[in-house]
Amino acid sequence: MFQEVTEGHTLVLEGAARAQIVEGTAEIFGAPFSLNEQIVVQRFKSLPIEALTPIKLEIVLGTGGKINIIEKSTISPLWKKVGEEFSLKVKSFKNKKPATMMVIGDVDSGKSTFVIYQTNLLLKQNFRVGIIDADIGQSNIGPPTVIALGVVEKGNFAKFLSQIKLKDGYFIGHTSPNRVFHRVMVGVKKMVDTVISQNCDAIIIDTTGFVRGMHARELKFQKASLITPDLIVALPKGEALESLLEPLELLGLKIERVPASENVRSRSMEERKELRKMSFAKHLLGGKIVKLSLDKCPLITQFNVGVGAPLSREVISFLEEKLSVKILHTALTEEVLLIVVRDKVRMGDVSEIVFHANEVSEGREVIVSSEKDLENLLVGLFGVDFEYKGIGILKSIDYEKRNLTLYTREDPKEVSLIQLGTVQLLENGEEIGKVSTVF
Ligand SMILES: Nc1ncnc2c1ncn2[C@@H]1O[C@H](COP(=O)(O)OP(=O)(O)OP(=O)(O)O)[C@@H](O)[C@H]1O
Ligand SMILES: [Mg+2]
Repeated sequence: MFQEVTEGHTLVLEGAARAQIVEGTAEIFGAPFSLNEQIVVQRFKSLPIEALTPIKLEIVLGTGGKINIIEKSTISPLWKKVGEEFSLKVKSFKNKKPATMMVIGDVDSGKSTFVIYQTNLLLKQNFRVGIIDADIGQSNIGPPTVIALGVVEKGNFAKFLSQIKLKDGYFIGHTSPNRVFHRVMVGVKKMVDTVISQNCDAIIIDTTGFVRGMHARELKFQKASLITPDLIVALPKGEALESLLEPLELLGLKIERVPASENVRSRSMEERKELRKMSFAKHLLGGKIVKLSLDKCPLITQFNVGVGAPLSREVISFLEEKLSVKILHTALTEEVLLIVVRDKVRMGDVSEIVFHANEVSEGREVIVSSEKDLENLLVGLFGVDFEYKGIGILKSIDYEKRNLTLYTREDPKEVSLIQLGTVQLLENGEEIGKVSTVF
């Protein structure tokens, strides 16, 4: 269908949909929308096309697709004002260090959109920008559970963060920062260091919507302390962010409050899961089954699979009898006794196994894992020097032959180490479970 839009009005296109401009001039988040350029809006996302002159669009609507005309811009003038102030900072720092902006806010407050808009503003002034996507739940640049970095320059305008190519990443393995604060801090810092080494003029950090409650405040506070951004942009929905922002302000950090946009298209938990599925699938597409030797490429978590000596046959039989479980693998190192059992174990069973295993562990820490927990588990692939190599799905471990089977599209020859995540996945990106025994 064809749709005309009056100058100064915005057509909000909700996915799934495809659009092309056939007459006139328009912008999307400050990026030019060129004649005959095709844009595709994914399901559960929306995109505002702002008419700078009268425009005519050709639109194809798919499942869930719809259009809505708004008689003004959906971008608040404050977004532009904040951007202009930040640009001055970028200019004044030029050739010394990149100026850093950290964007925080509740879920569905428009954080990622704000990041795209600011990136486009900086690109218009020919700055080189590093974007750190630290939203490990609804990630855009890398797969979910990965903190990702993209670098853009010279007219490389973005309409979605997902168009930006991943330059570097850090595997977190979890879809929320809860319980993995340490990994999140390490990942963000590493990405900032990479941006600095890439001679960028500016760094923009997108974050998760994890802002409520004591733990969230603690994480954001420590992150701000680690990065000391030159500007924090908060997108509050009401007063919710104040207890987080006030202490940072007392420390002298510059904070701009930009009320969350009323044009955000919010997403339910199910929609978020579906978006994660699509994103995982994109990063697993074209994968194949590969085998890796545990000796050349160990699997790490709090324990190392593949190191240590097995318990004696008698001890294993003693434990199996006492616990009525089938033990597949045991490994005794100086500090740890690892026991891998065949079936899934509940927390209560784990305590019982640990209790009896203590009889033979001689004071070592006892870790119990089940083969079922490791099956289809998301893993992160590291190359030498901690280089990010991508993700994969662990299919099985053969303790006798000392190898593991993995589904991935990455080159196994470049993988030096594998780290476990907590999400169980199918090759099509569908999440089929979560495990808690790996941390
Ligand atoms: N100012 C705006 N005008 C039009 N659409 C917008 C605007 N802000 C956000 N949206 C739309 O709302 C949706 C959600 O916005 P966005 O992804 O930026 O939110 P978020 O805070 O990053 O969400 P999350 O918590 O999932 O990370 C997107 O599809 C986006 O295109
Ligand atoms: Mg976001």
